Amino acid sequence: MLDTLKKLQNEFEHDLSNIADGSSLQNIKTKYLGRKEGLITLLFEDLKNWSIEKKKEFGGSLNELKRKIEETLAEKEKTLTEKNVFVDLSIPAIKPEVGHMHPISQLQKEIEDIFFGLGFDVQLGPEIESDYYNFEALNIPEDHPARDMQDTFYMDIEHPKKHPGKNIVLRTHISNMQVRYMEKHKPPFSVVLPGRVFRNESLDASHEHTYQYMEGFVVGKNVSYANMAWTLDYVMKEVFGKDVQTKLLPSYFPFVEPAAEGFISCLVCKGKGCSVCKQTGWVEVFGCGMIHQKVLAASGYKQGEYTGFAFGFGLSRLALMKYSIPDIRLFAENDLRFLNQF
Ligand code: DAH
Repeated sequence: MLDTLKKLQNEFEHDLSNIADGSSLQNIKTKYLGRKEGLITLLFEDLKNWSIEKKKEFGGSLNELKRKIEETLAEKEKTLTEKNVFVDLSIPAIKPEVGHMHPISQLQKEIEDIFFGLGFDVQLGPEIESDYYNFEALNIPEDHPARDMQDTFYMDIEHPKKHPGKNIVLRTHISNMQVRYMEKHKPPFSVVLPGRVFRNESLDASHEHTYQYMEGFVVGKNVSYANMAWTLDYVMKEVFGKDVQTKLLPSYFPFVEPAAEGFISCLVCKGKGCSVCKQTGWVEVFGCGMIHQKVLAASGYKQGEYTGFAFGFGLSRLALMKYSIPDIRLFAENDLRFLNQF
């Protein structure tokens, strides 16, 4: 019996050295361990007929041989599959999901670049502000009806430094930076200031309590209304395309005189009249004007020495127009199905 086992082992080792691929391995496996005809299986079948002594003597060796064959074949299978892993380099890779800039930030950067190209500096300012800079210094004293133009979040704390204007507000616009900036800089300069502003609004498809805004101003000797009209027309054409028309209509903002509202020709109907432009062909997108002498004076400039223009617009509003988005609230919802389109 031992001889039979020995022969079987030798034969197996010989067969093993001839295994070259998965199918020859499978054949060898069947030859020795196959459920019906496997050589080892047959020996186990035969075991039933053995005497107790024979079982005692050879049973262990038979078991041992079976285990060895199984292990060796499993090992062989492993090395074969490892060797045969085929990497198809032409399969397109799965792109890892990476984030990207929010559509409003993209537009903001684009507009900053346009102004930068015109020689403007880009600056930031505080979101929490004294009502002095947000209103008073801009020729909007307390109890002035113009305060009602903006629904303001007043905060129930006093300004720690008792600086002029004791209340603290969330800035309602970035015009608060006019006097702040001018106090520290000597003209000539031109600057734009992007950021968030806050309004105590009731929310709907075109009103948010927090939205992205951009203020800008240019101060120097002999800065004119015509300079302002050209600059804003140029920027709107850069943002919306060369075919866009702009127009300025007289308006009222206490910190500029004369003041104007800026319109662009409607992008949807190209000026013919539709529901977006309320059949007028024009959409209002910014406020602007020549900086009021009182504001220049509050900044410490000598009366009549400088002139300047200022403008402000909602970036969210521009983004709505540029991408034909029906609802401003989509920008803050963080829905990837929306954001992935940009
Ligand atoms: N601050 C104004 C607003 O939020 C917009 C504005 C109007 C800004 C006229 C200006 C300006 O600089 O000159 O409604």
